[in-house]
Amino acid sequence: MRVAVVGGGPSGRAIERALVERGATATLVSRSTGFDVLRDDAVERLGGSDVIVEATGHATTSRTVATDFFTRSTRAVAAAARASGARHVLLSIVHCDLPEVQGYGYFAGKAAQERLAREVSEDLVIVRSTAWFEFARQSLDRFSIGPLALVTQMRMKPVALDAVAGVIADVATGRRAGTAVDLAGPEVLTLWEMTRRLPDRPAVTVPLPVPGRLGRALRDGALVPGDDAEVVGPTYAEWLRAGSG
Ligand SMILES: NC(=O)c1ccc[n+]([C@@H]2O[C@H](COP(=O)([O-])OP(=O)(O)OC[C@H]3O[C@@H](n4cnc5c(N)ncnc54)[C@H](OP(=O)(O)O)[C@@H]3O)[C@@H](O)[C@H]2O)c1
Repeated sequence: MRVAVVGGGPSGRAIERALVERGATATLVSRSTGFDVLRDDAVERLGGSDVIVEATGHATTSRTVATDFFTRSTRAVAAAARASGARHVLLSIVHCDLPEVQGYGYFAGKAAQERLAREVSEDLVIVRSTAWFEFARQSLDRFSIGPLALVTQMRMKPVALDAVAGVIADVATGRRAGTAVDLAGPEVLTLWEMTRRLPDRPAVTVPLPVPGRLGRALRDGALVPGDDAEVVGPTYAEWLRAGSG
């Protein structure tokens, strides 16, 4: 089983590890390995794969930029998958398509990506995950100024990235069937609660309320999935105890 994983971020690396654990031949490709999904010939570079996992990302709050990036990435990956008869596994975000969160351009871009993938990919599995536990640290790094950190007011049902990567590897290697799955962790938590429990956090943390409809939706738990989402992985406390924070 040859699996190409497009995207060299935390998820790409975790998925690669999970695939290798399952005996698959995994190749991680991104700009740092010499493959730009927006510019290079994806059909040629990803050809010969049995499965292509798409885990690319581009940090932006602009709807235009996010939509352009994610749809171009998906168009290229889908073309490569069609050309080699490969399955396309897309990593996405639970509830990124809700109307009340479209004010966050990144979610609008992910929602556009999902819609396009359903149109152009012939053999598609969308694995949607809630925010990862790792998001608390990433968010701190992004919103820290010296000893001060701003913490976005949001309620989630976060999940360990390794657990998500395991499901993606199971999908890619045929251990799981289905065309879509939503994944979440075991508990509802606010980003504030997650941040306050991190080791080595900045001395002063200040809640950051996002204004308007989007902010209300984030605070009220619009990103918390319903009971149909599959619960995977450890609790946040277990994950922290294992030294992952
Ligand atoms: N963070 C979360 O909690 C969460 C939850 C659910 C789903 N997701 C989704 O998971 C996906 C991956 O997120 P992530 O945090 O692992 O990664 P990320 O930090 O968003 O970056 C993904 C990787 O994409 C690669 N990339 C960017 N532009 C590229 C290009 N033009 N060609 C090829 N590769 C390119 C980059 O590697 P190079 O720099 O080497 O090119 C980068 O390391 C995203 O779509 C995100 O929406 C995230």
